[in-house]
Amino acid sequence: MKKILVLTGGGDCPGLNAVIRGIVKRATHEKDVEVYGSIEAYNGLLRNPQEIIPLTNENVAGIHVKGGTILGTTTKGGPFGFPTQDADGKWFMKDRSKETVEMIRDMGFHCVISIGGDGSQSISQRLFEMGMPVVGVPKTIDNDLSATDYTFGFQTAVQEATDAVDKLVSTAESHHRVIILEVMGRSAGWIALHAAIAGGAELCLIPEIPYDIDKVKQRIESRYNEGRGFVNIVLAEGAKPKDGTITSKASDEIGYKNLRLGGVAYQLSQQLKEIDCKADIREMVLGHLQRGGTPNAFDRVLATQYGVKALELAINSEFGQMVAFKNNSICSVSLKEATAAYNNVDPDCYLVQAAKGIGISFGD
Ligand code: F6P
Repeated sequence: MKKILVLTGGGDCPGLNAVIRGIVKRATHEKDVEVYGSIEAYNGLLRNPQEIIPLTNENVAGIHVKGGTILGTTTKGGPFGFPTQDADGKWFMKDRSKETVEMIRDMGFHCVISIGGDGSQSISQRLFEMGMPVVGVPKTIDNDLSATDYTFGFQTAVQEATDAVDKLVSTAESHHRVIILEVMGRSAGWIALHAAIAGGAELCLIPEIPYDIDKVKQRIESRYNEGRGFVNIVLAEGAKPKDGTITSKASDEIGYKNLRLGGVAYQLSQQLKEIDCKADIREMVLGHLQRGGTPNAFDRVLATQYGVKALELAINSEFGQMVAFKNNSICSVSLKEATAAYNNVDPDCYLVQAAKGIGISFGD
């Protein structure tokens, strides 16, 4: 019997459940495969008592249309830094990686399928190097993993951001305002770039192209001078001015290592006022609306293929691999390659050129 343990780690993302369902449904074609899920990533394995549930055709039926993850997830630590309380109740991060590898072996798991973003896949690679059989599935709305053309969840997030631009265009036009829409993406501008093109924004500010605030003001003024009298700006949360830094804050949540981005829309608005931009400006931070809810059809299909492929890699003992979507086909790449480089927007890529071609300014 081959026992496979599935887990979802890092921020949630539309399509996680479709991957889980794909894994389980594909497994039913095999005589000797059983699938289990660990609740909240590795927590379910490492907690006492453990929280590991069997995944069957019955409990995954119809879940591909649901947002979130039926297994739960966490952004607070993992096997290499597990939030733990000492005798005085003080929290510290404990390295439980060796124990994790041993538990997987001793509990008779053939393989772990880890569904997660760059942070989760780096953990997968380190555990793989320590001898744990693992297969990765790339998830994140940010689309920032370089080994795959698309992560699932990205297209749904882009649609959510585009719907927001569409709504904001009509209110900006009615009031002759500048409206700044801040979207997620961490250090990558993919969501902003796609939503700006799809929604027809005048300005798109992304981390990969630091903006010059005077150029942003010039673009706004030229629109008002043309008599159009309103401007929509799509701003990536990781965008920064030339010679400036990104707006971020440390989190006080136990075990949460990432810097929290967000709020750059207010910073941009303030900068524009400081250089005497006369337009009325409103700001909108789209936030977690981009991550919640039903995955669109593209993400369901991609996630389902990832799930099926991940199960096939697992049963064929092709460990240390991550499933990927390259040149319109599903394949696999080594986790090492998958975690080597971040997928930033290339400022010279055709998508940026096309955006400029239709008059979108990047403030550069
Ligand atoms: O990586 C996905 C993402 O949604 C980023 O776009 C965003 O910066 C971050 O996660 C938000 O994380 P959290 O949900 O922990 O606040």
